[in-house]
Amino acid sequence: MAEVIKLSEERVESFDHDSTAIHAVAPVVEAIRGIVPAQKHLTLLDVGGGNGTFLDTMLQAMSETSGTLIEMSQAMAEKNSRSDRKTIVCANFLDWAAKTAQGSKRFDVIFFNFVLHHFVGKHRDESIRLQSQALEAAKSVLADGGLIVVYEIHYNGLFHDELPSKLIHALSSSNVLAPLTKLMGANTAGYGVCFHSESYWRGLFGQFGLRVVDEHLIEKGSFAGIKPHIHKIVLNIATMNYKIHFLQVEGLS
Ligand SMILES: C[S@@+](CC[C@H](N)C(=O)[O-])C[C@H]1O[C@@H](n2cnc3c(N)ncnc32)[C@H](O)[C@@H]1O
Repeated sequence: MAEVIKLSEERVESFDHDSTAIHAVAPVVEAIRGIVPAQKHLTLLDVGGGNGTFLDTMLQAMSETSGTLIEMSQAMAEKNSRSDRKTIVCANFLDWAAKTAQGSKRFDVIFFNFVLHHFVGKHRDESIRLQSQALEAAKSVLADGGLIVVYEIHYNGLFHDELPSKLIHALSSSNVLAPLTKLMGANTAGYGVCFHSESYWRGLFGQFGLRVVDEHLIEKGSFAGIKPHIHKIVLNIATMNYKIHFLQVEGLS
């Protein structure tokens, strides 16, 4: 099985913020209330949950929940606040899910906030395989009727839908170009990052029997300023957005 390339702790440090909690909790709570059948207790799983501010805010907003956060970076996992309703696990999600799927514990809502594009291998094909494995792994620990929530940045190409994502993967995974891509602002320079267009993600979800039952647009990329505009042209980007897709297993809801 291909190995996920792990970002250095120094690079992961830049993800220590609460913007996912600020932007996503309200629409996510609304979607969960509308989609997941009302139950006494709901179990949440936050994959690559970082410093935990998203999960903490979810637990505050929904008193009938408890949550598990899986985080590969030890430094990030340690930033999490503790609570009786929260379990923190420092592990690679793929390894953890393989073990967990053998037991009986299942989750009602599984979050992938800005994390699927970090399932990166040596080549783009390998990265897509790892992302596919992550979706399969999520299905294997999802409760019947449960919800998978994917919050991603979508780069939609001008000449070809996936061209920006292919360019970003190639540029960010090159060690030779790393000083330049770092200078251009890529936190993943030398490690790689695997974004996709929105239609590519929807196709991948469908391939794994996951139906989009709802979606919520957080923000459209504006490319204001010279540097973002250069990025847009060089990377052949037509549009970019921050969007949440809500998924359920086909035929089970
Ligand atoms: C961009 S940050 C997003 C953090 C948080 N979800 C948010 O929305 O702010 C991605 C996080 O996922 C973690 N991560 C990446 N791959 C992972 C994996 N395979 N298993 C567990 N955590 C992973 C990284 O260490 C990092 O903290």
